[in-house]
Amino acid sequence: MSPPKPPKPFPLPDPTRRRLLRAGAGALALPLLNACDGSSATPDTGTPPGPDTPDCVVPTQTGTRLPRGLHVSWTDDPATTRTLTWFTDGPDDPGTLVQYGPVEDGMSDCEIQAAAFPYGVAGATKATYGVDALTHSATLTALPADRPIRYRVGSETGGWSPTRVLRPAPQDRFSFIHFGDHAQHDASRAVTAATRARDPDFVWIAGDLSYANGDQPLWDSYFDMLEPLAAEIPVMTCPGNHENKDGGGAGYASRVTLPGNGLYYGFDYGNVHFCVSTGGSLLSDVSDTGELLTEIAELEQDLADAARRRANGEIDFIVFVQHYTIWTSCEGRDPFNFSLVLLEENILLRHGVDLLLVGHDHIYERSKPMGAGLPLDIGYVQITQGGGGQSLYELVDYDMAWSAFRTLRHGFTEYVVDGKTIRGTTYSVENEALELLPGGGVEIIDSFEIQARNGTAKAMPLKPARTLEELGREFDLQAVAEHTVRRNRLHDLFEDRTPNY
Ligand SMILES: [Fe+2]
Ligand SMILES: [Fe+2]
Repeated sequence: MSPPKPPKPFPLPDPTRRRLLRAGAGALALPLLNACDGSSATPDTGTPPGPDTPDCVVPTQTGTRLPRGLHVSWTDDPATTRTLTWFTDGPDDPGTLVQYGPVEDGMSDCEIQAAAFPYGVAGATKATYGVDALTHSATLTALPADRPIRYRVGSETGGWSPTRVLRPAPQDRFSFIHFGDHAQHDASRAVTAATRARDPDFVWIAGDLSYANGDQPLWDSYFDMLEPLAAEIPVMTCPGNHENKDGGGAGYASRVTLPGNGLYYGFDYGNVHFCVSTGGSLLSDVSDTGELLTEIAELEQDLADAARRRANGEIDFIVFVQHYTIWTSCEGRDPFNFSLVLLEENILLRHGVDLLLVGHDHIYERSKPMGAGLPLDIGYVQITQGGGGQSLYELVDYDMAWSAFRTLRHGFTEYVVDGKTIRGTTYSVENEALELLPGGGVEIIDSFEIQARNGTAKAMPLKPARTLEELGREFDLQAVAEHTVRRNRLHDLFEDRTPNY
């Protein structure tokens, strides 16, 4: 087999096209070596080309600091970059390296595993919160948009991961899957495997990931469970109330690598803008009120920018992701924090958010387009997919005017973005008796479509971003913060008695 050709150089993303919230604040301070433009790449010169089959031998994994918990995310342009994060045990840093190259036409499975890598990139290392381990992360840039990439992470001294393959990230027609409240049960593993089998372009986990609840090694077993999915398909996340139980979010933040400050952020994928919020889930003390207010102001700005770009035809959809629901049919979960709900919903409606992806309530529920608890043609559709694996809750026994469909099943929701239409399909990994389907099977339990707003509706919500001072004239922001702290404490008190919540 001839040596792999270098991928064609691709231009770096236009920085005016997307805005990562608080870009640089807490973001990776990596020596981002651009391995594809030749300027600072570290090609493995002198390495012989990979062997041909049938003599090809997949290397065995050896080393004293083998990578584990490998997962892919984005911290920059989804079309041309990937960020890889993994862990090694012990305090000694074996190095943070990624070796990679294109999957060449005609490569056998063995050659994909065993062939030499033409490129390398170094990354950064930091302590993993609460365990004797290190978190490593590195970003691949200028990736070809039309060719899979094979890669491995690790180091010569510590050992290498198996070779994994990153598919191209299609921008015209693509799919993503959403669930929250994942945990580490049989249903969690079934949801993980079925999500992988659907082969989406990326995944959203809307908070309450590991349910470590202060037992930090449970994060290790969580990422072990996630790795078969997340080492090849980007997984983007937001924190939930259970992330607050690990050092106020420090356990989560030390294990994921995301845009901006890693807690709330925005980015475009194709014709969709995603805006991600903490929903106040990490606020533990009113002395930290400023953090929540800063986030609210930045979300307001991000959504105002997105609405303007949608009106200009640059994007078609705005999707908001957080852990907490705005409205719910979950028994005992009516908005716990009305002051934050009213403020958030005001911002969502003002800027015309199309779709709201949440978890927290361990139910599945799809709303009609809504606002203020009533159907509203130009409102947002909320998808509560809290069925990622943790124990299910109960539904109220009365109707909600805004609710279109609700049920109790573990599963996930897939969204196919095809031009100006998003087609949603919700799958369950269980039958109606809540028994796992055999052989990794799934059942469709809901389907829906969301159309891009027409010109009139797109223009209607086009309003400027408000400053915090202006928001403070419409809302009691101190009360918002105090009620959020109280909500979080009440959750903790309740969950200490029922840890699966
Ligand atoms: Fe949960
Ligand atoms: Fe939750």
